[in-house]
Amino acid sequence: MGNARQNDSINFYTRKWVKPEDLNANGTLFGGSLLRWIDEEAAIYAIIQLGNHRVVTKFISEINFEASARQGDLLEMGLVATHFGTTSITMRAQVRNMITRKTILSIERLVFVNIGEDGEPAPHGYSTITFDRDRMPTTQPAG
Ligand SMILES: CC(C)(COP(=O)(O)OP(=O)(O)OC[C@H]1O[C@@H](n2cnc3c(N)ncnc32)[C@H](O)[C@@H]1OP(=O)(O)O)[C@@H](O)C(=O)NCCC(=O)NCCS
Repeated sequence: MGNARQNDSINFYTRKWVKPEDLNANGTLFGGSLLRWIDEEAAIYAIIQLGNHRVVTKFISEINFEASARQGDLLEMGLVATHFGTTSITMRAQVRNMITRKTILSIERLVFVNIGEDGEPAPHGYSTITFDRDRMPTTQPAG
């Protein structure tokens, strides 16, 4: 499967530097490291979009590891919200080489659920993307 979709609408956020501890036995980037990074990035994106620190990963669709990365490569992680449900938000993700722009990973659907104080899914009330931090809670979550 090629890059049928345009990537214009994806915004790239965190950059990562591939280090020795991120490698697999083949000497290339370990898929598990990449998934941990993108899950965290998506969680932060969902927190900003839904204005709630209590969001959880519900569903991750097919993951396509399109190319490998090597030690020293600089990567950037991109996300865009593709659907706002009642209690959920769906995102599309792409990780690419910062220099060559070659896609390393793409995920068509990552679904996060907004959780209320009772630990159950709660309506978030949003239907559009914010490019600001206007929905962010002003207090830290109780920890
Ligand atoms: C998140 C959780 C509370 C949701 O519970 P649930 O009983 O599935 O809740 P609901 O059926 O009300 O669904 C909540 C939302 O998730 C969506 N959803 C549920 N199952 C889904 C699936 N398989 N794929 C995509 N979306 C799904 C629903 O459509 C709903 O979204 P909407 O309100 O925007 O329409 C529960 O599944 C859970 O705790 N999961 C573990 C989460 C977690 O710990 N993640 C970290 C990884 S270990």
